[in-house]
Amino acid sequence: MGETTISVKNVFKSYPVGDQRLPVLEGLSLDVHASELVAVMGRSGSGKSTLLNLIAALETIDSGEIYVKQHALHQMSRRQRILFRRDNLGIIYQFFNLVPSLTVEENILLPFLIAGDKNPAMKTRLEEVLEFTGMASRRRHLPSQLSGGEMQLVSIARTLIRQPGVILADEPTGNVNLETGKLIMRKLQESTRISHASIILVTHSPEDASWADRIVFLKNGKIEPKFSLNKGETDVFHIFRRLEELGI
Ligand SMILES: Nc1ncnc2c1ncn2[C@@H]1O[C@H](COP(=O)(O)OP(=O)(O)O)[C@@H](O)[C@H]1O
Ligand SMILES: [Mg+2]
Repeated sequence: MGETTISVKNVFKSYPVGDQRLPVLEGLSLDVHASELVAVMGRSGSGKSTLLNLIAALETIDSGEIYVKQHALHQMSRRQRILFRRDNLGIIYQFFNLVPSLTVEENILLPFLIAGDKNPAMKTRLEEVLEFTGMASRRRHLPSQLSGGEMQLVSIARTLIRQPGVILADEPTGNVNLETGKLIMRKLQESTRISHASIILVTHSPEDASWADRIVFLKNGKIEPKFSLNKGETDVFHIFRRLEELGI
């Protein structure tokens, strides 16, 4: 097993609601290794997106510790969190967040342009990710000229171009058809193999989750390792059975 790239330790997170606090994560722990694809499943509202937002340092924890690639997120300043995200993270959402007035190629290059990065390797990387996602023939298209699945493949290309060590994907197949969903999952799995990225995938779909190396279940604000599905158990049959057992 590779090094531990993400380590979430006994994390508590609540949100203010009126004059009360709504507890969402209540002592959650999770380790993810290099080259590992971990799927997180759980009911709607169980805190899956909250967990990803905390690992992305987009929100701060109430207590506990989070380490990503040796960075202690819970000790970072706002500025450090921005740099941390830029240098280490790729985030893929259910809605693709492409810029409508930019072409496919420009959208993919956007992370470099924003970072003011004139990296000469950028052109080579562009060709590689266009090839990898099968979007080379769509490079001059605008997002409005693409199908939902193609838009998601472009957003994956945009994520991969910077070769992030950690990829967080929040229901990435939520708005694409089954067949494209499969292709997207295959591409995510391949990127753990090729670039040794760690991926956390939030999904409701047992078919998507079956691509993972490990599946964890978020319930009552925690992940119980004894319910996780490990190598050799991440088939759709095991997943359905575990979802049923856990009442998810
Ligand atoms: N900014 C917020 N303020 C208050 N409550 C929130 C906020 N974000 C999320 N929540 C609540 O926290 C719970 C978990 O949300 P979320 O992590 O989005 O769940 P999931 O992704 O598993 O569906 C939900 O009950 C949601 O309403
Ligand atoms: Mg969510």
